[in-house]
Amino acid sequence: MSERAIGVFDSGVGGLTVLRELRIQIPDESLVYLGDTARVPYGTKSSPTVLRYAHEATRFLLTQQVKLLVVACNTASAVALADLTKCNQIAVVGVIEPGARRALEVTRNGRIGVVGTEGTIRSGAYERALRAGRPDVVVQAAACPLFVPLAEEGWAHHEVARLTAHEYLTPLLDRGIDTLVLGCTHYPLLKQMLQEVVGPDVQLVDSAQETAKAVAALLKEHHLLNQTTPAQPPRYFVTDIPDRFERVGGAFLGEKLQGVTTVSLEGN
Ligand code: DGL
Repeated sequence: MSERAIGVFDSGVGGLTVLRELRIQIPDESLVYLGDTARVPYGTKSSPTVLRYAHEATRFLLTQQVKLLVVACNTASAVALADLTKCNQIAVVGVIEPGARRALEVTRNGRIGVVGTEGTIRSGAYERALRAGRPDVVVQAAACPLFVPLAEEGWAHHEVARLTAHEYLTPLLDRGIDTLVLGCTHYPLLKQMLQEVVGPDVQLVDSAQETAKAVAALLKEHHLLNQTTPAQPPRYFVTDIPDRFERVGGAFLGEKLQGVTTVSLEGN
């Protein structure tokens, strides 16, 4: 079991920020990635639809014999994590708990900002996770739908991105947040610009790094760390033609992306 791959899925390229962190933190593990590019974005869709997509993605990854599932999408984690955990035999890790835990560790004044897609913010999943750890925490959440296309367009340092960030984040800063959770797997690409906009006194929490830490800890705890066979190169699957995924995903991953296979989730 321990030599099996870890399955990672997202609506598209965003989860590659999590995959990148997994490769850094647990380099001996083989990884299988699924980007549901035919149906991206999840962030604007209803909860029942995202739930259905998440189950279909999971069933596909189970056909790849994965030992653990990482829901590398905040929207899918917000809507489907509990259900996926209940319905499957393997361990399932989402991106929300790890990010919330880290935010509670770093906040000094108990005022935490959360940014994400409409679906993630509407679900209230971060508020619940944060309040479960510390009931008196003050949470300021904001949906920032324009950040996803800006990150995909490679406009992280464009003036348009900076103005957009000011528009979205000023109300949160006015409420005195000292911590900002990047509650979308696309946002780590905008991290440097966002840090400049919020200033040095606000600590950014990157769910990708925290999720990779949580996966490493879970594998260790369950004696599932691969110590027998060399890690295979990551395998990538998408649900639409791979061209855009390869091009945009390369920037998310920080290296050239090749060998992407198109699959259909219908019937899964
Ligand atoms: N990856 C998604 C998330 O983390 C953002 C993109 C989408 O809306 O599908 O919520």
